[in-house]
Amino acid sequence: MKLLITGGCGFIGTNFIRLMHRSHSDWTLINLDKLTYAGNRNNLAKLEQEADNYHFIQGDIGDRELVRSVLADYKIDAIVNFAAESHVDRSINDPSPFVTTNIQGAQNLMECARNHDIERFVHVSTDEVYGTLGPEGKFKETTPLAPNSPYSASKAGADLMARAYFETYGLPILITRCSNNYGPYQFPEKLIPLMFLNAKNDKSLPVYGDGLNIRDWIYVDDHCRGVELTLLKGREGQAYNFGGNAEETNINVVKTILHILGKPESLISFVADRPGHDKRYAMDFSLAKQELGFSPSVDFAQGMKETIAWYEKNAKWLEAVQNGSYRNFMKDWYKERKA
Ligand code: NAD
Ligand code: DAU
Repeated sequence: MKLLITGGCGFIGTNFIRLMHRSHSDWTLINLDKLTYAGNRNNLAKLEQEADNYHFIQGDIGDRELVRSVLADYKIDAIVNFAAESHVDRSINDPSPFVTTNIQGAQNLMECARNHDIERFVHVSTDEVYGTLGPEGKFKETTPLAPNSPYSASKAGADLMARAYFETYGLPILITRCSNNYGPYQFPEKLIPLMFLNAKNDKSLPVYGDGLNIRDWIYVDDHCRGVELTLLKGREGQAYNFGGNAEETNINVVKTILHILGKPESLISFVADRPGHDKRYAMDFSLAKQELGFSPSVDFAQGMKETIAWYEKNAKWLEAVQNGSYRNFMKDWYKERKA
């Protein structure tokens, strides 16, 4: 199979490419990534140097001519679209790039795929399209979409476009909706790597609101296996939920990190809440279990130990991805929160 992966230099894309390269040595993997602040080509430098069946192309999923020529030149059979603006806080500061990449860019990919007669297209979405849960229940694929942040609204927009491309043009598209991922290579603006970094440097750990918001954490490789199963076995036009069966409050996640590192809880600082902050996410992934044979394999406590060990070992990676734009963004964000 000749597989186009978009956004492959980001957190999940990197882990997905590494896993697919190990599991399918006969596949050709083409990675199209714009290299925004969140993309790091070095994550896959070894593969780029050593593997004949991996190719990197820097470019935008919204560039019609580029995407057309990549599909034609590499005779692409299938697409997995990870490319996105992915951080909720950034979308609150400025929704525009989220609309451009997550909706218009995704639609451009679908349009090019339709004209190319693609065989399979997996669009990677998120549990956040469903909005928020109360104390009971879980999101099912039939739960109405009710996004609350500009990020999740842009992801829901693309999900609806994917549905329309399936219904109208018969595009063989499938959607994955997953809960919060953690693991190696996550950009240190997201909760777990950010708290790790601050704790290591004895800086305060900013917990939004009362810290009692709940996320369903899944180890990144489990999500990647879910995407692979969807690509290989999923029903066209169907959306599949994926989750880790690991509901945790944010404060528990932060305390777990401090505990693993042997740092004091006095580093925790409660700050102003995120506007529109979803209270609780939990995924019912029984459809993926039944139709694809999916189940998460990494237990949260073990996954966290391994993740923290990876960040400890890869301090240079963390330093390298903390470029100027990231630091400036975070500086302004904290200033606003402290005010
Ligand atoms: P990330 O921010 O780490 O990586 C995004 C990647 O996309 C980067 O490499 C970036 O350079 C690239 N990119 C951005 N705009 C682009 C464009 N216009 N053209 C080409 N490349 C572009 O994100 P992530 O956490 O790896 O998430 C990947 C996907 O998974 C996203 O679609 C996200 O919505 C979805 N998702 C993420 C999570 C999570 O917990 N991180 C959970 C569920 C779903
Ligand atoms: O649920 C899937 C989503 O998970 C993905 O679609 C998104 O791309 C991904 O970024 C993630 O979104 P969240 O907003 O849940 O992740 P984040 O790491 O930003 O925050 C996790 C929780 O921690 C959330 O309730 C907000 C809180 N938080 C976050 C940060 C960065 C804090 O309390 N303090 C912080 O400094």
